[in-house]
Amino acid sequence: MPTQRKQVLVFRELPPAQLDRIARAHDVTVADPRQPGQRAAFDAALPTAQGMIGASFPIDEAVLARAPQLSVVSSISVGVDNYALAEMHRRGILLCHTPGVLTETTADTIFALVMATSRRLVELANLVRDGGWTRNIGEDLFGSDVHGKTIGIVGFGRIGQAVARRAALGFGMPVLYHARRPAEAPELDGHARQASLEQLLAESDIVVVTLPLSDATRGLMGAREFGLMKPGAIFINGARGAIVQEAALLDALDRGTLKAAGLDVFATEPLPFDSPLRTHPRVTALPHIGSATHETRQAMAALATTSLLQALAGERPAAVYDTGSASA
Ligand code: DGY
Repeated sequence: MPTQRKQVLVFRELPPAQLDRIARAHDVTVADPRQPGQRAAFDAALPTAQGMIGASFPIDEAVLARAPQLSVVSSISVGVDNYALAEMHRRGILLCHTPGVLTETTADTIFALVMATSRRLVELANLVRDGGWTRNIGEDLFGSDVHGKTIGIVGFGRIGQAVARRAALGFGMPVLYHARRPAEAPELDGHARQASLEQLLAESDIVVVTLPLSDATRGLMGAREFGLMKPGAIFINGARGAIVQEAALLDALDRGTLKAAGLDVFATEPLPFDSPLRTHPRVTALPHIGSATHETRQAMAALATTSLLQALAGERPAAVYDTGSASA
């Protein structure tokens, strides 16, 4: 028996093929509240919305309070820090997300930042572009090796392990990781060792954060943690900006404690024009592109759409986030 048509609010642009899949079965309103002129349509759709799909906009308690019919939100992201998890759990609203399909792409981005910061790729490419390559470069512009260096990975879920595979199996790097439990990753046996956060910070040449953002991880990297890092170490954040105290990071860079930072994520996004991180000579900043390839964004949209349709049909979607979990 066909499912009864429901009201779906799409709050971020979806590829046409996915929008069509939803529209064949349900009544759709497309309104991205971040786009000029669309906020009113978003607000107007909330009271009747039964399903929502989108990303990059906080679905907080105030938004949920105006959506009394809501039974499922499908996020086109793996991170769920934009959602009022406890309130969704209390109301029994399903939260779907997109684990798995973006793992390798996000690890590629993080590893690109490892390479870019260590070998000063952006700075040196700009030297060529700006006509500054007029003689052989000297030691002042040399980078540092990546292969063989110790990499410390804070958070060892799917993405952390994918970074570890690249580092250990591709670049011969010893891996330290900080996680609640020992990893079940046989391919990394003999290459990766669990460590306390303090030990990891003290021993790693390159520290990479891949943790989800939660109350437990917000502001985790502050002055104490940067102070524990090896002098001249490199810091990479491919997770969420709010895990890092940005003033403490800048201080560590300015004092020379850290050699460089590679950042794909920031406390405020898009990065404010006046942020010192935007122009800092030893920061490589990317506009949150962890999963931003054609292939992966298509796969994320398809998975989020499938989950939404399953939930609206009364089936249990494969990629449901446990809003009642401890990390919630
Ligand atoms: C994610 O999926 O959480 C990525 O950071 C994109 O937002």
